[in-house]
Amino acid sequence: MSTNITWHPNLTYEERSGLRKQNGATVWLTGLSASGKSTIACALEQLLLSENVAAYRLDGDNIRFGLNKDLGFSEKDRNENIRRISEVSKLFADSCTISITSFISPYRVDRDRARVLHKDSGLKFVEVFVDVPLDVAEQRDPKGLYKKAREGIIKDFTGVSAPYEAPDAPELHLRTDKQTVEECAQQIYLYLKKESII
Ligand code: PPS
Repeated sequence: MSTNITWHPNLTYEERSGLRKQNGATVWLTGLSASGKSTIACALEQLLLSENVAAYRLDGDNIRFGLNKDLGFSEKDRNENIRRISEVSKLFADSCTISITSFISPYRVDRDRARVLHKDSGLKFVEVFVDVPLDVAEQRDPKGLYKKAREGIIKDFTGVSAPYEAPDAPELHLRTDKQTVEECAQQIYLYLKKESII
């Protein structure tokens, strides 16, 4: 717990977005391993950048190489992983960037906390359920992790030996066994347009 610290006010969001002429928001992708989160996040980031919309991707695997390298996959560590990313994505959104997060984020309570954190700062939060049946994700198994989880080599693996709590009311629900990557990215893009975020 930090003590003897003082908050220094920033520009307000309205001042900053007026100067940058762009809104910020967080697009929060959640879903099983191999559901397609990172691939869709990449496609969306490219689409936004090609339209001159500042966007930045925060990816589960990548963030665990640096900022969150001290965390594993216990429930407590995943809670902390998502708490930190909620704060970081909020900062990106506040800087008038579209922050695209792709984390399994398996616990509803963590995602709800991320939503409240954004809401309390007047920032838009778009939860996107990247849905795929477990057996399809397991057949894809691009990193061979499901196989290792079934063999007991990897413990606490989401969908196999650790829970995934599907969102109750996400802003968008994608089905990556039925839609292409481009269709999914386009659907998010059109939602951001419809909501006048971009
Ligand atoms: S979480 O649950 O949100 O904290 O996970 P996240 O930070 O998104 O990291 C998920 C990636 O870590 C790899 N990996 C595992 N995933 C789930 N369970 C276990 N035990 C595990 N161990 C390693 C895996 O590559 C995940 O990436 P994706 O892209 O989701 O497949």
